[in-house]
Amino acid sequence: MSKSIARMTIDPQYQLADVDPRLFGSFIEHLGRAVYGGIYEPDHPSADEMGFRQDVLDLVRELQVPIVRYPGGNFVSGYRWEDGVGPLASRPAQLDLAWRSLEPNRVGVNEFVEWAKRANSEVMMAVNLGTRGIDEAKQIVEYCNHPGGSYWSDLRKSHGHEQPHGIKVWCLGNEMDGPWQIGHKTAEEYGRIAEEAAKVMKWVDPSIELVACGSSGSKMPTFPDWERIVLEHTYDHVEYISMHSYYGNRENDLATYLAQSLDMDHFIRSVIATCDYVKAKKRSKKTINISFDEWNVWFHSNEADKQVAPWQVGPPLLEDVYTVEDALVVGCLLITLLRHADRVKMACLAQLVNVIAPIMTENGGVSWKQTIYYPFLHASRYGRGKVMHCSLQSPKYDCKEFTDVPLVESVAVWNQDIGELTIFAVNRSQDGGIELECDIRGFAQASVIEHTVLVHSDLKAANTKEEPQEVIPQHAQGAKVDGGLLFAPLPKLSWNVIRLRV
Ligand code: AHR
Repeated sequence: MSKSIARMTIDPQYQLADVDPRLFGSFIEHLGRAVYGGIYEPDHPSADEMGFRQDVLDLVRELQVPIVRYPGGNFVSGYRWEDGVGPLASRPAQLDLAWRSLEPNRVGVNEFVEWAKRANSEVMMAVNLGTRGIDEAKQIVEYCNHPGGSYWSDLRKSHGHEQPHGIKVWCLGNEMDGPWQIGHKTAEEYGRIAEEAAKVMKWVDPSIELVACGSSGSKMPTFPDWERIVLEHTYDHVEYISMHSYYGNRENDLATYLAQSLDMDHFIRSVIATCDYVKAKKRSKKTINISFDEWNVWFHSNEADKQVAPWQVGPPLLEDVYTVEDALVVGCLLITLLRHADRVKMACLAQLVNVIAPIMTENGGVSWKQTIYYPFLHASRYGRGKVMHCSLQSPKYDCKEFTDVPLVESVAVWNQDIGELTIFAVNRSQDGGIELECDIRGFAQASVIEHTVLVHSDLKAANTKEEPQEVIPQHAQGAKVDGGLLFAPLPKLSWNVIRLRV
């Protein structure tokens, strides 16, 4: 094979799975300026009658985020949800020990459900299994989802919400394997409480779906025994196990950084294997799927966060400014999630606004799109349909952490409803462009609609308040279909979206 060609075959007969739209979920935590100064800022010129910033809502709606996890994160493990409902005047300000901030409880579950409606999203709600337990988990499901006639459902009605919220997906705590978590537990301790909480939550509302906490990352010393033990307890009561992963380029080693999606891929395969081991052990017919409900790049803000004064409302925490190379990594991570669409049914880009986020705001001022906004936008918009089995042969490279890293990472999604096949591809090569040559003879009438590319001469370039358009997608020239083959030039170090009419 020539060094500069990657070959792929996509055939309509070879389909992997339907993409669950919830693969393009995201996350809003009571952390930093995600809520206060992010989605909610009553004094902002664009704020609606509930205090929600319309400029932010517009950007979220553009991303087409079908589900948003809430209210944490580490925050949830010390959260009293009752403090965030009812008349504003009687809501207490509380110390949030997870992020050493002051939580004013201006926004709680009712406001967030309303915000999510305006964002065309549904809510993925997490319960506190850190400082609290079975009773609180039962009560919040009753408050949110029970029609009425009981104490907690009538309390919701008295707060002006006559109809139940019908929240479908619930997380049984957050990162309970992490020593940093309030109420950190062993796998046995967590497995037992998650099992019992799950039982009563489903007794209140049998239609809900539950996510048990998996490991906080593949490097956790308790991984993968954690998953095995937790699932041995919860298998019959939950539908999903969670996965979390964050990546960074702390050593400024581009080749290794761009290959981080191989870690995600290996992590997903290991969790699937563990789920299926427990399935076999239990002689179960049920399959547990994955909710990859925290993933992103997170490292730029680590040092700055150490300087932030504690006990502020909406402090500037985790405000990573994302570069072009981060967008390429996010592109590779999205491709990896799509390639596992048969088992990864939900995923949440962590997070959505200001906190390690695609959307940034200035308090009282403008909002803008970070570089990572674009791969997420493209995947969410064009990655719906069927993921195809793509046999990809790419030249490879070795780096510090990985061997045989494909220079081209790619996946294709066929949306039969609108007759489009979209190929997502990242060219990791630091040496030059690579030609993608794709056998699509099975799609007899295929023609190129457009080839969009995110590329920049400076890999450290970023979008900022001053330069919000520094890194934006461009139309690429040269992609063509000829004799059943698609030829598309992938520029050096680029994210590519090639849309075909089929
Ligand atoms: O997303 C930021 C934090 O990362 C979350 O609060 C926590 O769950 C994870 O460690």
